[in-house]
Amino acid sequence: MEIEPLDPASAGRSVLEGVHEVVSAADRLDKPGAPPVTFETAIGRLENPQPSLGRVLRWVARRDGRVVGLAALYFPEAENSHLAILELTVHPDARRDRVGTAVLRALTPELHERTVLECWNVTKGGAGAAFGTALGFEVVDETVFQALSIGAADRSAWKVSPAAGYRLRTWQDSAPEELVASYAQARRAIADSPFGRSAYRFPRWTADRVRESEADRRRRGIDHRVVAVVQRDSGRVVGFTELQLYPHRHDLGYQGDTAVLAAHRGRGLGFCVKAAMLRRLVAERPEVEEVITSTAAANPYMVNVNLALGYRTTRETVILAQNKLARGRA
Ligand SMILES: CC(C)(COP(=O)(O)OP(=O)(O)OC[C@H]1O[C@@H](n2cnc3c(N)ncnc32)[C@H](O)[C@@H]1OP(=O)(O)O)[C@@H](O)C(=O)NCCC(=O)NCCS
Repeated sequence: MEIEPLDPASAGRSVLEGVHEVVSAADRLDKPGAPPVTFETAIGRLENPQPSLGRVLRWVARRDGRVVGLAALYFPEAENSHLAILELTVHPDARRDRVGTAVLRALTPELHERTVLECWNVTKGGAGAAFGTALGFEVVDETVFQALSIGAADRSAWKVSPAAGYRLRTWQDSAPEELVASYAQARRAIADSPFGRSAYRFPRWTADRVRESEADRRRRGIDHRVVAVVQRDSGRVVGFTELQLYPHRHDLGYQGDTAVLAAHRGRGLGFCVKAAMLRRLVAERPEVEEVITSTAAANPYMVNVNLALGYRTTRETVILAQNKLARGRA
């Protein structure tokens, strides 16, 4: 078996077709009910990685020329420079034949100073969880995947106004200058949400970091939308929600962070900003068919907000983690 670096920009068509075949066959098995993955979507995902996860290295495993496995290693920055995040997928026909183990061994030297290796979005009770346990990973958190089908949703649930004393403000790509400082402050409130024992640290947002991340998304062609709730008296952002649309997926929205500062909770503001986001999305991007999101299972408030908005839970997932000491022993 050969394990080689993969650069989607220079890879030949046959390798990319092999990548698509692995992703679509694995999804059929590991994510039943998920829509089929087209070639454009599979390759678009490689070309448009999630900005917050930092630099990415990719590999393919080939046996007799056929792509049987794929891996991506992400290197998030700043407060997460101790962490690497792994995506590893083996074609269902090639499983239980040590392909996954071999790929993991081959990429381990690239971890260098990263002390914790985590796998996110691993289907609970599935092959990935069993593989992780066998290779010395432990489950450090549980998450819930939810999807909202725009066509099937009852949009009347989205018709809500903010509580007295608050107003909504929406923007695309770039926060208004007068709100960027309080928006950064409100973004920090996401750190109150549970993240189990994962080694991931929520960013300590500042106005400068907001501007950097906006510029990065613009460079990547990502349509990033925010609905913020502003306290009328102070003129400050006290809560927000964000949604992203990637250039390779015009039909799919990624619902990202939602947070409300502690002093303003219990007034339905979280529901209100998410509902306003959906109203705006259907008005401005009618081609979007589905919105997906992931939430900590230990956050029933947000899971229930999503259900009330029309999301359904599609998958229960876990986060697996392995620290350097355990890797040394493996
Ligand atoms: C997880 C995955 C990459 C494993 O690939 P693989 O090539 O089949 O794994 P290996 O053959 O190297 O398995 C090594 C050991 O893990 C354990 N294991 C792997 N899959 C298992 C399963 N379905 N059930 C029970 N144990 C399993 C076994 O102990 C296995 O050794 P054994 O076959 O000698 O008993 C593959 O199942 C996959 O692509 N799953 C979907 C994506 C995913 O969940 N990735 C998360 C990875 S952390």
